[in-house]
Amino acid sequence: MTALFSLEQVGVQWPRSARPALQQLSLQIRAGERVALIGANGCGKSTLLRLLHGLQPASQGQLQLPNGRLRQAMVFQRPYLLRMSALANVALGLWLGGLAWRPARERALGALQRVGMAAQASHPAHKLSAGQQQRVAMARAWALAPTVLFLDEPTSSLDPHAKREVEHLIEQFTQQDPAMTLVFASHNLGQVKRLASRVLYLEQGRLLADLPVQDFFGGTLLQQHYAAAHQFVKGGLP
Ligand SMILES: Nc1ncnc2c1ncn2[C@@H]1O[C@H](COP(=O)(O)OP(=O)(O)OP(=O)(O)O)[C@@H](O)[C@H]1O
Ligand SMILES: [Mg+2]
Repeated sequence: MTALFSLEQVGVQWPRSARPALQQLSLQIRAGERVALIGANGCGKSTLLRLLHGLQPASQGQLQLPNGRLRQAMVFQRPYLLRMSALANVALGLWLGGLAWRPARERALGALQRVGMAAQASHPAHKLSAGQQQRVAMARAWALAPTVLFLDEPTSSLDPHAKREVEHLIEQFTQQDPAMTLVFASHNLGQVKRLASRVLYLEQGRLLADLPVQDFFGGTLLQQHYAAAHQFVKGGLP
């Protein structure tokens, strides 16, 4: 199968930054993969997501992204919600994508129902709790029926119960559309184990391990060949 995303020796340098956020990154991502990005704070996970989503240019190397016909959606580390109702936040994305306002509202309501937020549809989005805002952001992404879904630490601000619920939603999205490609950053290794088919471990902008999830967490491969990633995993599986 041909790769959706193809990176060859890619580097990213933020302006006025002393060191590159990503360096010499070579990898391919194929349709239907569930890729987890892990690594310490500042290792480059969000930068890589932004690069793949087309929000961030590469400063070095060859980068091939899917053509414009693919629908991509991203849920950011901090949800960007506009100062309008939850429903309008979700409907606006659909309307901007070319849907008339009425069907956009209907689909948006369906998406809010899907994430358990129908009762708050008319509430101002910026006054919702962090967990509720995260759900609205998930609904906004899901309503677009994306072929590629990027999630940047989708459950980091949530309590354990909400975490489990949002994770369950992500599982449902992937089960419902097995062809959907999922790329997500997470500090929760238990979640990575549950949701990913492949794990990319980054350290200071470099890709130090790229393994199928079973090989990453099981056996002695990590211990023998990927010392830094092994140390990171030894930190614990919450
Ligand atoms: N907007 C920005 N301007 C300048 N430098 C940035 C910007 N965003 C990130 N960086 C730098 O790029 C590097 C990678 O940051 P990035 O946010 O991708 O890390 P991360 O792995 O997502 O971290 P975290 O786990 O804290 O979310 C860091 O050194 C960071 O300081
Ligand atoms: Mg980040």
